[in-house]
Amino acid sequence: MTTADRIHDSATKHVTGAARYTDDLPLPEGALHAYLGVSDVAHATLREIDLTDVRAAPGVVGILTAEDVPGLNDISPTGSGDEPVFPTDRIEFHGQPLFAVVAETRDQARRAAALAKVICDPLAHALDPLTAEAAGYPFVTPPLTLTRGDAEAALATAPRRIKGQMQVGGQDHMYLEGQIALAIPGEDDEVTVHSSTQHPSEVQQMVAQALGVPAHAVVVNVRRLGGGFGGKETQMNLFCVVAAMAAKTWNRPVKIRPDRDQDMTATGKRHDFVIDYEVGFDDQGRITAVEGDFRARCGFSADLSGPVTDRALFHADNAYFYPHVRLSSHPMKTNTVSNTAFRGFGGPQGVIAAERMIEEIAYATGQDPLDVRKANFYGCEGWNLTPYHQEVEDNILDRLVGELEQSCAYRARRQEILDYNRNSPVLRRGIALTPVKFGISFTATWYNQAGALVHVYKDGSIHLNHGGTEMGQGLNTKVAQVVADAFGVPLEQVRITATTTEKVPNTSATAASSGTDLNAMAALDAVRQIKERLAGFAAGKWGVAAEDVSFEAGQVRIGSEVLSFETLIKEAYLARIQLSAAGFYKTPKIHWDRNKGQGRPFYYFAYGAACSEVTIDTLTGEYRIERTDILHDVGRSLNPALDRGQVEGAFVQGMGWLTTEELWWDEAGRLRTHAPSTYKIPLASDRPRIFNVNLADWSENREPTIRRSKAVGEPPFMLGISVLEALSMAVASVANYRECPRLDTPATPERILMAVSRLRG
Ligand code: MTE
Ligand code: MOS
Repeated sequence: MTTADRIHDSATKHVTGAARYTDDLPLPEGALHAYLGVSDVAHATLREIDLTDVRAAPGVVGILTAEDVPGLNDISPTGSGDEPVFPTDRIEFHGQPLFAVVAETRDQARRAAALAKVICDPLAHALDPLTAEAAGYPFVTPPLTLTRGDAEAALATAPRRIKGQMQVGGQDHMYLEGQIALAIPGEDDEVTVHSSTQHPSEVQQMVAQALGVPAHAVVVNVRRLGGGFGGKETQMNLFCVVAAMAAKTWNRPVKIRPDRDQDMTATGKRHDFVIDYEVGFDDQGRITAVEGDFRARCGFSADLSGPVTDRALFHADNAYFYPHVRLSSHPMKTNTVSNTAFRGFGGPQGVIAAERMIEEIAYATGQDPLDVRKANFYGCEGWNLTPYHQEVEDNILDRLVGELEQSCAYRARRQEILDYNRNSPVLRRGIALTPVKFGISFTATWYNQAGALVHVYKDGSIHLNHGGTEMGQGLNTKVAQVVADAFGVPLEQVRITATTTEKVPNTSATAASSGTDLNAMAALDAVRQIKERLAGFAAGKWGVAAEDVSFEAGQVRIGSEVLSFETLIKEAYLARIQLSAAGFYKTPKIHWDRNKGQGRPFYYFAYGAACSEVTIDTLTGEYRIERTDILHDVGRSLNPALDRGQVEGAFVQGMGWLTTEELWWDEAGRLRTHAPSTYKIPLASDRPRIFNVNLADWSENREPTIRRSKAVGEPPFMLGISVLEALSMAVASVANYRECPRLDTPATPERILMAVSRLRG
């Protein structure tokens, strides 16, 4: 008996509204509300904030500024020291939080926050990476270069070469539930924070350091998130710190919840990139050398820009072997909000560069891009070394892409589309099949650890806690399945409990798609300890060998004896057997030397492929996604229903990133796309008309991960690139496929129309 294909434990609660989020917690007596006051200039020397009117506004209880931070005025997640809770002397972006107002009601706090007069001397600002570079702005974090062979020399002697530039847009997380924190003051220096962060341990550390108290004084609780997507990995720190400072200052519970406009302007997003690439290749389209420079809009501080821009380089090969290669990151400081984690963590911006180079070669040599892809896959002629010198050992793309190509009839449909386009004056169609290879593990090696806590109560019911956070991805369901199956009991016997820093300490962010890999393994380690004790006890009592004790179907077999799980637990309790255990796991095999740019940063790779077909209207630039077929590798799926959901959601989010989701700052540095009215995420009606999503059911992880499964959260995001390249083909048709349309992203209808006009001359 296993628990595979169970629905998400909160699925019904999500759709009926019974799932409780932080904002649904009943407010304790006397609770206050905080709201942020923000800057309305992009860059300035801060002289003074005149808060007279704010203080006098109805319901205002008090104000917090930089001077009121009792401990360290810094919430930089990597300790770079460049991200104050509130700034003291310099404003670094339009919308930067400068102070917080605390009032009796949220509405009063929100209105009062708008009454501040900020006195400052404006400075010149640079909003995008190229302007910033020209103005001599620094990097926010040390850059990385990956090299193998001699790219420069190989390019110089390449039979053919192409040089180009690509602008890749950012993305807002647009989680349904925004940022939120509720802090409740305790005795002495204690405070409890309820929040929907992806990283409770980091919030605990930030709150402790801002308050100047030890970590043991701070408890952080997370029941669930209404979506995080990376946007709540570090961005919740500010809200939690503000709520906690206010709670301790006025000794009353304090809640903070920005409205959507403030959430969008004051918190970081996906990094947009300007990518310069040069690729050398032969007449068959085989790559001989690659050089790439990845300039990212990091915003005013480092935040996670180091690991994000590193990961862009780690994925700039996608599925392809580069015989000679040099890849460099340029993490540019800009006067914009500090960009952060977002599903794929820089990886998508790297993958898209690889796919652009493939497109360039295909148009230059007049081949089907799929043939160019296949000619350059890892494994061709035995080449498997990545630009970071890790061997690709588990490549399954030949089979996976081959199966998808057959099942979606790629070749026949492409031919049919080429014929159609010849005779269609206005509507044009395109099709593209793109692969993804995604490295699994945090590149910060120490993050690859997890803990769990399992209690079995006297009645046989099981309490499960682990360090991961549930954000809709189904982590809690998967970990509970693993525990239930290991004890051989029904899933209902396992209670999944809220994440809290009190039960499992020093946890990593739930990120890098590694939540299940890490936490299920830690939970299994705890179960193993309890089962070993139970087996030892049963063996002694019934006079059998410990190996003859097994747990299955709610029963325990002890030699020829069969007991219910509950009976054994009761007996074990009376015999004073410890029925609780803390489990631990750390990922084996991985190591990474950033200075050398060499190592084995990834435990394994996850693979996938998608084929998308689109129709564009060459008179308006509007388009429609007709059909998408996906074949994705999750190893041996722990839960196919959840995994398919992740693949579908990630694809649609990736497609949104590349098509309609456009971030636009005006010249003053003000983000003008700061609400769903101006920022367009995919609607249900934008999904592919035909959408076939399958898991490669023959795959299994060659590494001993939890039941040979693979991580699924981020890799399928990059399957959205198939839509971009299908659009590109449709555009290229207007010039008879003579040149690569070089679409920048997002490829909005405006961009499609402009590309069509450009190609038509
Ligand atoms: N799925 C849902 N429904 N909501 C989310 O916020 N976040 C994604 C992905 N899938 C997310 C999601 C991101 S960015 C990551 S890193 C992983 O889930 C994190 O969870 P996991 O490690 O348990 O896969
Ligand atoms: Mo996901 S960007 O690693 O939270």
